[in-house]
Amino acid sequence: MMNDLVQLGAGDGPPTELIFGDWYPAMRADKLREGKTAKAMLLGVPLLLGRKTGGKLFAMRDLCPHRGIPLSAGWFDGETVTCKYHGWRFEPCSGQCAEIPSLTSHETLDPTKIFASSFPCEERDGYAWVYVPAPGTGRIGGDLPAVPELPRFSARYRDAHLEAELPCNVDHGIIGLMDPAHGPFVHQAWWWRSRASIHEKEKHFEPIPEGFRMSAHAPSGNSAPYKLLGVYGEPITTTIDFVLPNRRYETIRCGDKWFASLTTVTPITASTCRIDVYAAWNIFYRVPFVTSIATFFGAKFVQQDQQTMIEQAEGLRFNPGLMLIDDADKPAKWYFALKQARLKGTGEHPLDGPVTLHWRS
Ligand code: FES
Ligand SMILES: [Fe+2]
Repeated sequence: MMNDLVQLGAGDGPPTELIFGDWYPAMRADKLREGKTAKAMLLGVPLLLGRKTGGKLFAMRDLCPHRGIPLSAGWFDGETVTCKYHGWRFEPCSGQCAEIPSLTSHETLDPTKIFASSFPCEERDGYAWVYVPAPGTGRIGGDLPAVPELPRFSARYRDAHLEAELPCNVDHGIIGLMDPAHGPFVHQAWWWRSRASIHEKEKHFEPIPEGFRMSAHAPSGNSAPYKLLGVYGEPITTTIDFVLPNRRYETIRCGDKWFASLTTVTPITASTCRIDVYAAWNIFYRVPFVTSIATFFGAKFVQQDQQTMIEQAEGLRFNPGLMLIDDADKPAKWYFALKQARLKGTGEHPLDGPVTLHWRS
């Protein structure tokens, strides 16, 4: 299941450039109870996350600014983090040093002028989101981008979360996510669709800030879950948005019934990533077991992608040349163009207006 996380490390595929200066989900927030900490890694940065007494989350770079030992080796009392080596004590939200035990009245050093690196950390959709600045940015101030959040269309809904580690870099994780042509091969199952159901499709895209939208349309007639929605007898519309650095929002609406998901592919290191899917819906709200059934099938789906990417990573280790073809790989080309525009700060967008793509899937 999703808990059988891939062993990452030796043998990872080629690294890629990372987009710093944005929010990434570090872990599920329910792993962080008051007074507890946990380790995580985002974009190659080791993190110590925790929850203070009273509920506030924090994320520190997991390195003591004194001599570099991981702060996770030390202690957290619900208020401050104490380094194991020489006992420097830090307020973890600001990173401000509160005490250096070795100081005497002969010293003039003011500990409160010293800061460990700490990053903005917010809870949304059950994740601890961390803002990861570019290395060497210094203390973080000013306006940060909004923390990503799944849209919801009613007060009552059910939700579920899935995750899988991928032994490839974030680019392969993301283009695998937006790639329509693998569906009939990777995701065949009696309850979803068969390979024989492959047919020509026409999809409409439009540019949105730092991304693109697959415009509202009646979804694939060959996917069983969409057929289920037909029982409501209302028109079904879906929208799929991809937004940098790593977010895919899908919204399906059918009258006042809805299903929404936010899928992110987050760089753990430059050559590994993790896919997270958070979904919420009010479809079949009163039917028992729907959450467990949906989670089971969702997990199968993510597993099929995960297994494929594990196999792909074996090949990528040999640094093969790669091809992107029209039209099925066009969204992947847009992703690479958007990423380059972001990294270089050009403000360019690969789409200058609506585009229609055709492929068979
Ligand atoms: S290394 Fe942390 S207090 Fe010295
Ligand atoms: Fe897939």
